[in-house]
Amino acid sequence: MKTEVNDLAIFGGPPAFAEKLHVGRPNFGERERLRERFDQIIERRWFTNAGPYVKELEEKLARFLGVKHCIAMCNATIALEIAIKALGLKGEVIVPSFTFIATAHALQWQEITPVFCDIDPQTHNLDPRRVEDLITPRTTGIIGVHLWGRPCDVEALGEIARRHRLALLFDAAHAFACTYRDRMIGSFGDAEVFSFHATKFFNTFEGGAVTTDDDELAARIRLMKNFGFAGYDNVIYVGTNGKMNEVCAAMGLTSLESLDGFISVNRRNYDLYRQGLRDLPGVEVIDYDDAEKNNYQYVVLEIDEAATRLSRDELLNILWAENVVARRYFYPGCHRAEPYRTLYPDAGANLRATEELAQRVLLLPNGNAIGEPEIRGICDVVRFAIAQAEEVNLRRSKGSQTTAAEASV
Ligand SMILES: Cc1ncc(COP(=O)(O)O)c(C=O)c1O
Repeated sequence: MKTEVNDLAIFGGPPAFAEKLHVGRPNFGERERLRERFDQIIERRWFTNAGPYVKELEEKLARFLGVKHCIAMCNATIALEIAIKALGLKGEVIVPSFTFIATAHALQWQEITPVFCDIDPQTHNLDPRRVEDLITPRTTGIIGVHLWGRPCDVEALGEIARRHRLALLFDAAHAFACTYRDRMIGSFGDAEVFSFHATKFFNTFEGGAVTTDDDELAARIRLMKNFGFAGYDNVIYVGTNGKMNEVCAAMGLTSLESLDGFISVNRRNYDLYRQGLRDLPGVEVIDYDDAEKNNYQYVVLEIDEAATRLSRDELLNILWAENVVARRYFYPGCHRAEPYRTLYPDAGANLRATEELAQRVLLLPNGNAIGEPEIRGICDVVRFAIAQAEEVNLRRSKGSQTTAAEASV
């Protein structure tokens, strides 16, 4: 228990945790089931190319998500690139800047201009009122991101897309097992893209999928992710290699059997954080709508420095020194990363909510690698650091050592 400012590890005290606690430490299901499946893969010597586990995973995911087609891929970035190409997007596409860089890169990679749109500060998702202002004759589509698994305003974006004849794609990287108006995310817009990266709630080591109800689009995507092969020796389309392999599919099938357990651990942890940080002025744990399903993978704090008197970045430094590897997703916003900051140096002027949020957000560890003692410990550090804000700021202004978090930026 820390009682004075010198007890903070940033000033030389012992860290609160002996081992590092990470945001998004991977979940996995039954180890024995996974081993059995790995053995099967070796027995069959069918490692990739539409293997039986990939097919089984695609079928099970499509059923779970209530969508006609699920095309498993090697990761969500390639899945986004393929979906964008299969939808025929070109020119300009409207995207949030407050997202992981892959959403923007998937466009820029194929020389499509990502037009960054501001978010609604309440939902952290694309603000439909701002989307419409950005439509030009060159606009061909909109990509909404269901950030933290909280659904975009699907109805409003769908209405804008229809009225302007634009494609509508959702980056659902965070939103596996989440709902919009009681329906699973996966069948909204023209297509949706999931990430099954190790840090995600449901992971296949690396992986992703495109889901859609559109038969033609699904067929095109299947061709594109397999070099354009429509059968032996028969290439009918330009394509790339976006295939998922059997080992990843085996991990996915095994994780799928433990999904309810993952959610209940995340939910329990999320509730513990909310309790532990309740009534702490300037610290808000973002809400999930109880009327919808969520995977509770993301414990997202908004830090209001005016109330805490401790900046988000200083709190991050303090946590890192205590071995709590908190993260400031998605700082500083895509528009401030290359090549976008060079290409669009003034983009920030239209992205006020994005810029403000990028200074406030802090993510805390979640998943089945942590439990009640760790969460109590993390909340104690946050409370203690904020209670000591004045002293921390004074010491730091006198020039204390650079911290791990600062050194990594
Ligand atoms: C919002 C968002 N989009 C896309 C991606 C890219 O996913 P992947 O790592 O599977 O390529 C991520 C993952 O980190 C993400 O968070």
